[in-house]
Amino acid sequence: MDAEEGTAGEVISEGKAKIRLCEGVFFNPYMELCRTLSSLCLGAVAAKKAVDCFCATGVRGIRYALENNCEVEFCDIDRRAVDCTRANLSLNGLEGEVHQGNISRLAFSLRGDFVEIDPFGTPAPYLIDAFRIIKGLKTAFLSITATDTAVLCGGKKRACMKNYHALPLNNMFTHEVGTRILIKRVAEVASEFNRGIEPLFSFSHRHYIKIIVKTERGAERAMESLQKCGFLVWCKVHGVRWGEYPALCCKDGQRAGPLWLGELHKSEVLQGMAGKGGERERRILSLMEGEMGLPPYYIDLHKLSKIACQHFVVSVNDALEKLREQGYRAFKTHFSPRAIKTDAPLKEVVQCLY
Ligand SMILES: C[S@@+](CC[C@H](N)C(=O)[O-])C[C@H]1O[C@@H](n2cnc3c(N)ncnc32)[C@H](O)[C@@H]1O
Repeated sequence: MDAEEGTAGEVISEGKAKIRLCEGVFFNPYMELCRTLSSLCLGAVAAKKAVDCFCATGVRGIRYALENNCEVEFCDIDRRAVDCTRANLSLNGLEGEVHQGNISRLAFSLRGDFVEIDPFGTPAPYLIDAFRIIKGLKTAFLSITATDTAVLCGGKKRACMKNYHALPLNNMFTHEVGTRILIKRVAEVASEFNRGIEPLFSFSHRHYIKIIVKTERGAERAMESLQKCGFLVWCKVHGVRWGEYPALCCKDGQRAGPLWLGELHKSEVLQGMAGKGGERERRILSLMEGEMGLPPYYIDLHKLSKIACQHFVVSVNDALEKLREQGYRAFKTHFSPRAIKTDAPLKEVVQCLY
């Protein structure tokens, strides 16, 4: 069985669903938080019909149906996953169509306003399929998971250029860069379908990045989204600059992108999610609220101390207080418990270390 935990035949509970694990069908219990947040988001945007394109045991789609009272259609290339999802639908007293096949073939006949793309590794080859499923809809939502974080977060530069058409950055805010590269790639594919995107919720956790975007039809919308993409330049001395194509600050400057430079979340959606979530989810969502309206990177205080050759590491709370006293906006971030997001220039944050 292709799972990190659990044995075939065992019935587990997750959210409102009961799921029987099946021989040879993927199930990762560590993705529970990702599924919980996605289900809250589907509820907050009041989507009517989800398509769980890579369903495996069916856990995501079944939770969406039970927790939000929406319709769900399922798809998986593996016959065992299709049988497993059908069995789990009846275990939960639900009905729903489960198709066996490659999503890239089935996409032409599937329809839904909330498309779940949760493959192994990169979602890049399946983005076109997602847009085919929502073709013709004025407004729809895409929920996309990437587990190729080594690629997006600077560990495999060539693979990132190949899959995401972007240069990553292997530095202290690599996870935000990776998240923004993924969103940029979705904006590019959206524009080819004459659609724009708006990120509602962007989450980097453990080995994955999860984004949920609203997409709207229209050439103007497409152009608006593309105009929110650009580059970012980073160096240890001059800090970070971003824009359409910022010049390198010095010979040590590194450029990342193209990447998404707009907001990562939408406040009213975060609030809608928090309204139905538990304490754990509310804590994460409130960190995301704090991230809004700030520059497109975070600062890891441990790594900054190292760069500044400091042995002492200032606590996150002390750094926030010092920056706020000087009139800067400064918040914790969901990207890392050791990091902050602020509109203070890097040299001001370095001053907090002393
Ligand atoms: C990461 S698992 C999905 C996990 C599931 N969404 C969950 O939350 O537990 C990926 C699934 O996609 C299926 N799959 C892989 N390639 C596919 C394709 N081209 N079309 C449809 N399903 C595919 C695999 O059989 C596998 O069950």
